[in-house]
Amino acid sequence: MKVSLQEACRLLQSSSIVAIPTETVWGLAARYDDMIAIEKIYEAKRRPKQNPLIIHVEAFNDVVSLAKMPLPPKMEELAARFWPGPLTLVIPVDENKVPNSVRSNLPSAAFRVPDHEGARALIRAVGPLVAPSANLSGKPSATEYTAVEADFGADFPCYISSKEDESILPLHGVESTILVWTDSGDGTHFGWAIGRLGSLSLHDISAVLGDLLIERSHEVVETEKKEKKPICPGQMFRHYAPEARLDVGYTNEDIISSDTVIGFSDRIYPVASRVFPLGTSYDARACLRNLYKILRSLDENKISEAWVDARITPEDLQRDPLWRVFIDRIEKAAHKE
Ligand code: TXA
Ligand code: MG
Repeated sequence: MKVSLQEACRLLQSSSIVAIPTETVWGLAARYDDMIAIEKIYEAKRRPKQNPLIIHVEAFNDVVSLAKMPLPPKMEELAARFWPGPLTLVIPVDENKVPNSVRSNLPSAAFRVPDHEGARALIRAVGPLVAPSANLSGKPSATEYTAVEADFGADFPCYISSKEDESILPLHGVESTILVWTDSGDGTHFGWAIGRLGSLSLHDISAVLGDLLIERSHEVVETEKKEKKPICPGQMFRHYAPEARLDVGYTNEDIISSDTVIGFSDRIYPVASRVFPLGTSYDARACLRNLYKILRSLDENKISEAWVDARITPEDLQRDPLWRVFIDRIEKAAHKE
């Protein structure tokens, strides 16, 4: 159900939750200090309690008042360069100011400033908002308000701030990139580690961070007990998955195993009776932007299996690192990880 700015404010101020548009994916919002509403988010999404939430703020200054001082090195530079935008920063916070339920009892919290006028207008009116992606836990994220309604019901309030929120996909259509301020794992130094690949390219980030960007394989750290644990708890759980079984093709030798194909509009799939076109094979951004809508449309069309064209060459990856994000999301959707 579409709601206006005024109605969204009223709902949030009375401990209800509201779906909000952002430049990445739709979010499911509550005021960050409203325990009743935060509980509703976990319940509605069926989200595990160990998976903390991102706090969406209007500007860098709002983070300063909640963070533990001093801020991590390069924090201000990252914010100045990339906010508003699809970058989430996880930093130590003042535990008296950020409720436990927002951060799943961790000493840190995640922050970002969305690059979306309507979302910022709402934050300006009611204060910082926690917002996980507006989908049932494990399902593909929502890139249209109708996808939010499909998961939570036609009566679920979706804040529409402009014609675009109603009719076009978000600018990026894939979640923000997450950087976590953390130790290097071997105890020698601290730095920013990638918690989740996302719509902001690592090329741009490493230009700002240099040596402070810690490379860690598969976003996983080893704990003192020698268990493998992701830096972002959310990475432990199933993600982006439609009901349909996905088979991923990586090379020309991989046989197209289904007559339904998720593929590129500039390639031909002679054996397929149905092709869902992501975009051209030289436009990673467009392909990512369309991905979740296509994954959802498999289920809408009651399709039980599909073959996904993931034939991305090292040259493609070199040319546009967003292809790495594409592969990451496809593999998680196919639960290859
Ligand atoms: O683009 C986005 O980031 C979207 C839009 C709505 O802003 N939001 C989003 O939220 O993707 P969600 O809840 O689906 O993903 C948040 C991720 C999870 O993987 C969670 O584990 C991680 O952020 N996270 C949140 N707080 C954290 C913390 N204190 N430490 C480590 N990871 C954290
Ligand atoms: Mg999510």
